[in-house]
Amino acid sequence: MASICIDEKKCIGCSLCVRDCPNHCLYLENNKAHVLPSGCIACGHCYAICPALAVQMTAYPIQDTPTVSMSSLDSQVMLAAMRSRRTIRHFTQEKVSQEAIHSILEAGRYAPTGGNRQNVAFTLLGSKQQEAEAICVKLFRTAKRFGSPFVPFLKQVDITDDFFFKGAPLVIVISSSSEVNGSLAAAYMEIMAESLGLGVLYSGFFSVCCAVSRKLKKLLHLPKGNKVVTAIIIGHPAVKYQRIVPRKPAQATTL
Ligand SMILES: Cc1cc2nc3c(=O)[nH]c(=O)nc-3n(C[C@H](O)[C@H](O)[C@H](O)COP(=O)(O)O)c2cc1C
Repeated sequence: MASICIDEKKCIGCSLCVRDCPNHCLYLENNKAHVLPSGCIACGHCYAICPALAVQMTAYPIQDTPTVSMSSLDSQVMLAAMRSRRTIRHFTQEKVSQEAIHSILEAGRYAPTGGNRQNVAFTLLGSKQQEAEAICVKLFRTAKRFGSPFVPFLKQVDITDDFFFKGAPLVIVISSSSEVNGSLAAAYMEIMAESLGLGVLYSGFFSVCCAVSRKLKKLLHLPKGNKVVTAIIIGHPAVKYQRIVPRKPAQATTL
């Protein structure tokens, strides 16, 4: 079944949807849009562009789609926020509100995915956070004891009980069968969290543990075919940074 259908009574034959469909699944006949039986990836371009609300998206149970109000996002404000973003490794005890969690998940849900597969899952560790961290701590302490072959820097660090999650109140594990899709979702979520005044740490160390620990894999209970792409540790920052740090020049080339 196609993921969209056209309400012919509403269709005004403007052909905007036909021109905008990335997979050329729509055509105009008798001044009405029609859908071809295959090729639709349910991306929603036709739904979003239709001025007459003639497109229905049958692919999704959720129809929570308000009209786009022109964003007041200022590019310079955005750039300043991105440049001043820092990884946060010290958090207060304050919980992250449910509204904030919802916004962060929405940001992840609306990140682009190749082929519009929407194949990214978000696992909030919740009541299992301590247990997950304990597994990781044990693993890293063992690795350290055996000469840290896979993480040389372990030699010089103290693997404290809160080494992985830094006492933050929220850990979201992002998993997918696509690293790119999962990473994009994570970046969207991070920016959303920042805009809410929260601090974020990507935990590569946690991802390492997920890749090697069967116990952790079992605990996470990920959707079939998914691998942990990253985990974002979120909380209210207990540090404030004063300035933007230098970076390498952009490796940008025009061919
Ligand atoms: C994929 C990824 C994994 C990371 N893993 C860790 C980690 O496990 N522990 C940690 O302290 N920092 C981790 N970081 C943070 C980086 O060290 C940090 O982004 C980098 O030092 C630059 O600092 P900034 O984010 O404050 O600009 C990770 C960052 C990324 C993007």
